[in-house]
Amino acid sequence: MKVLVVGSGGREHAIVWALSKSPKVTELFCAPGNAGIAQLATCVPITATDVDGMVTWAKENKMDFVMVAPDDPLALGMVNALTEAGIPAFGPTKEAAVIEASKAFSKELMHKYHIPTAKYATFTDMEKAIAYVHEQGAPIVVKADGLALGKGVVVAATEEEAVDAVKSMMEDNKFGASGSTVVIEECMTGPEVTVLCFADGEHIAPMPSSQDHKRAFDGNEGPNTGGMGAISPTPYYTPEIAERCVKEIFEPTMAAMKAEGRAFKGVIYFGLMLTPEGPKVVEYNARFGDPECQALLMRLDTDLMEILEACVNGTLDQLDIQWKQDASCCLVLASGGYPAHYEKGKVIDGLDQVQDAVVFHAGTAAKDGQIVTNGGRVLGVTALGSDLEMAIQNAYKAAKPIHFDQMHFRNDIGHAF
Ligand code: AMP
Ligand code: GLY
Repeated sequence: MKVLVVGSGGREHAIVWALSKSPKVTELFCAPGNAGIAQLATCVPITATDVDGMVTWAKENKMDFVMVAPDDPLALGMVNALTEAGIPAFGPTKEAAVIEASKAFSKELMHKYHIPTAKYATFTDMEKAIAYVHEQGAPIVVKADGLALGKGVVVAATEEEAVDAVKSMMEDNKFGASGSTVVIEECMTGPEVTVLCFADGEHIAPMPSSQDHKRAFDGNEGPNTGGMGAISPTPYYTPEIAERCVKEIFEPTMAAMKAEGRAFKGVIYFGLMLTPEGPKVVEYNARFGDPECQALLMRLDTDLMEILEACVNGTLDQLDIQWKQDASCCLVLASGGYPAHYEKGKVIDGLDQVQDAVVFHAGTAAKDGQIVTNGGRVLGVTALGSDLEMAIQNAYKAAKPIHFDQMHFRNDIGHAF
């Protein structure tokens, strides 16, 4: 099969890496890709959000299958367009991707179908939003409605902080159109776990649990990022909790989406908080998380291509997906300054000295025979281990030889809950 993966981050490198091992895949392409992906696939210079460009290229080059990984092209309807063009495509339709693209939609869905989540209210009027903050008191959570790269969320410790967040989203337009509607939520407490499920519209196949580390600095301090590292599994996700999540959250969500005429195919991401009252949904994503994907795919034993096809064909229930018992850890090496301002073009040394780990490239480019930094999150050093502690140790050890100017990483991946 000729397969195209859409996207350019660490997640896409992990997907390309897994697909490159599939006997079914004879030719692999990635658009636009990065310097690491280029070692396994032919990179095609089309931006991930160029729906028409992508469909035209996929048709002209006779792709047998397209895997759309990032949120933006999914929300723009790339899977709809590819399907209409007769090309099998993995990922939710635009109608189903709205579960991530609009927090107002997902909160309403959970409310309507009694799926446990934080109490909330949605506002398009700033004065009303501010009045609600004062009425509810702090701590309280303010979220921009649309896609904001995981950065449109403020967990406010004080009413003043919450009001500032509302103003910056609604008045200063910090997040553009995605901030014209805000969702204000009750602040939940408890450990966070993430569970991704393959989904074929009807059935789900939950993957092992994982956990991202969203804050930039050790001890979960600093601004929210796209994710500074991930582990799988997380010790908090016991078999008892898993059973509750399937019954109370995962299956009801799939049924709700189907009932709304938005049957979900692809990867559905459940960001959960294990609160004193039980597991509740923090957020849904309509795709693999990054860097959770890197940690998870290291543990996958079944051919990823077979799974992707089963999701598109609606035959996921006929597949017995196998995972390694080993735990895994993905340590993100980021550019100094990320998620705010950072410099690009720093030469990356030591990549050829890494042992016993896979280095997934996120923001890298090839320049004059060298690999240089080209984004905020640069690399994801991903290792397995017989248990979580070993996996964490192995990832940190493997990352030791890697260096670039102003490289930044967290020292507590797997140890900060
Ligand atoms: P989100 O983009 O919705 O996942 O939010 C980013 C992060 O903000 C989450 O991973 C949580 O740590 C935190 N967060 C979001 N909503 C809540 C909430 N209702 N209560 C407490 N923390 C939250
Ligand atoms: N790691 C969180 C995300 O991909 O949104």
